[in-house]
Formats: sequence, C-alpha cells, structure tokens
Amino acid sequence: MTRKTKGSVTHLNITVTAGPTREAIDPVRFISNRSSGRMGYAVAEAARQRGHEVTLISGPVAITPEPGINLVRVTSALDMLEALQEHLPQADVLVMAAAVSDWRPRHQHHNKIKKTISGSNMVLELAPNPDLLLELRQHKGDKIFVGFAAETGDPEEEGRRKLKAKGLDLLLANDISRPDAGFDVATNRGILFARDGTAEFWPLMEKKAMAEKLLEKIEELARSSGKRR
Ligand code: CTP
Repeated sequence: MTRKTKGSVTHLNITVTAGPTREAIDPVRFISNRSSGRMGYAVAEAARQRGHEVTLISGPVAITPEPGINLVRVTSALDMLEALQEHLPQADVLVMAAAVSDWRPRHQHHNKIKKTISGSNMVLELAPNPDLLLELRQHKGDKIFVGFAAETGDPEEEGRRKLKAKGLDLLLANDISRPDAGFDVATNRGILFARDGTAEFWPLMEKKAMAEKLLEKIEELARSSGKRR
C-alpha cells in the first residue's frame, strides 16, 4: 500500500489490465476479440505521468508502454487472473480495462487440428472463463476497483447493473455500437457511474483525455477514503 499524500496529490500503486485475452484452440488457432488495448494503455500512461506506481497486465496488443511502467504480459483469461492474484495485494487501485474473453475452448488440442474431411463443419465447444472481477472481489478490502463496460444495447442500464453486480467503486460504460467509440479507435465517449449512485456523461474525446479524467476521479476517491481512515 502506497497511499501516501504529498501536498495535495495522492501517490498510489495502480494495477491496470488492458487488451484482449487469447484463448487457444490448438497451437495455431485461438479465439479473441477486437480490443486494441488503447484505453488501458492510456490509463496506465496517464497514471505514470501523474507519479503513480503502475503495473500493466496486458493481453497481446501491438502497443509498447513507456519505460517506467511495470509490464506483465499475459495471454489467456486464466493467465490474467494468475497475474492479478500476484499483483493485487500491493495495489491500492485496480482498473480492469481488459476485454477478458468470457469463454475458452473446452478442449485445448496439443496438435494442430487437421481438416480431415474437406468441407465438413467444425464444432467448437466453449467453457466459461471466470469473471475476474468477481474472483478478486473477496480481496478488495479498501482498494478502489474500477471497471469498464462495452455495450451495444443500453449502456446506462447495463452500466449501473454491472457496477453493482461486480461491487465496483467506478464503472465507465461505452457504447461500442458507434464507430467513433469503444474498440480499436482513438476516441471514446461514456458514462461514468460511481458507487454513490451518481452518473456523469462524458462526451466524445481522445482516449488519452478520458484516461486523465478517470485518474482525476480515482485520485479524488483515494483522497476521500484516506480521510475516512
Ligand atoms: N471482466 C472480468 N472478467 C470477465 C469479463 C469481464 O473481470 N470474464 C471485467 C472487464 O474487464 C470489465 C467488466 O468486467 O471491467 C465488464 O466487462 P464486460 O465485458 O462489459 O461485461 P461482462 O461481465 O463480460 O458481461 P457481458 O459480456 O455479458 O456484457
């Protein structure tokens, strides 16, 4: 725990997850999603620039973080859970920006699956991955947990529901049905829900600017919880 105050700034140990996870079918194939990692990397970089200690647990992406960020590379959702279990005890804040795959192939083949009969269908059975935020909830204590929600339906309703269901302090819901927000673009817009029931509508902005705004909120929460203790 490094929740020390220096002047008016709170220096925090922040763990951020970013990018997609990759779930292997066989040695050459996997299932994944369209996450580029840009939002999570922007949060990690904004946190570093603001003087926080940052661990970035990242799925496979094409971005290189700035020096000064402790990068932990992972592949699958289960790898990400293991890395989180290792790093969470030292963290004051967890920001789950990763697009964790909700399923993984039920059987992982050690050899490449051959298409024995050309033109025949292939059936892939999927098993659920754990919900990482729910798995980590028992270790939350007074840590600040921040989630993201990627929605194609009603981000307001789903954002509120997920904040509560996952026991989060903050949740940023994005409407990914719009081409200028969400996956694999430089901009985002969203609704920030807080545990106290408030919601802020954030207009379209660069992910970098959104990361700054989110960090301001996290610091505010850390300061107020510090005062309570
Ligand atoms: N999340 C997680 N573990 C999962 C899936 C998601 O910890 N297996 C986290 C994400 O990192 C994010 C939040 O939960 O911070 C919401 O993710 P999202 O994909 O929007 O929601 P899901 O819970 O997966 O629900 P659904 O896909 O059904 O909308």
